[in-house]
Amino acid sequence: MLNEKEKLEKLNSIIRKYKNLQRSFSESSKKREIVIPILQELQELYNYLPEGTLRIIATELNLPLSKIYGVATFYAQFTFTPRGKNLIRLCTGTACHVRGGKRILQTAERILELKDGETSKDFKFTLQTVRCLGTCFLAPVMMINHEYFGRLTTQKIETVLKEYE
Ligand code: FES
Repeated sequence: MLNEKEKLEKLNSIIRKYKNLQRSFSESSKKREIVIPILQELQELYNYLPEGTLRIIATELNLPLSKIYGVATFYAQFTFTPRGKNLIRLCTGTACHVRGGKRILQTAERILELKDGETSKDFKFTLQTVRCLGTCFLAPVMMINHEYFGRLTTQKIETVLKEYE
């Protein structure tokens, strides 16, 4: 995990990178297309989008703050509240539900001592339920960060979560 100084350095390097990219665009519409990748990098860095950082980005890259907020609020992948280092997305959609998704969720809640939408006090985990992860053939399924874990059983989820402790 990066400390505050390292995060600031990384933020500065993100700004430099996108300033250079902006210089290579002639049309102003293209200059705005960089908002999504910037937000993705910021969220990767902080695990959420801190308001102060969005203001810095707007000023440094000469982008309207309203545009940045517009994009950030449109896409569900972005969040304005601090999130745990490990984002657990547990599917409660139909295919997962009929294959025991509810028991899997209860097991995850018990192990993590979290309810849907909550983040642990040490910011290690955030638990979220989702309607479908697009991998119903793996039901019941969850994602931790970018990795899928399918055909979950209560025992399997226990083993997987311990690996992330
Ligand atoms: S319903 Fe769970 S992955 Fe589709």
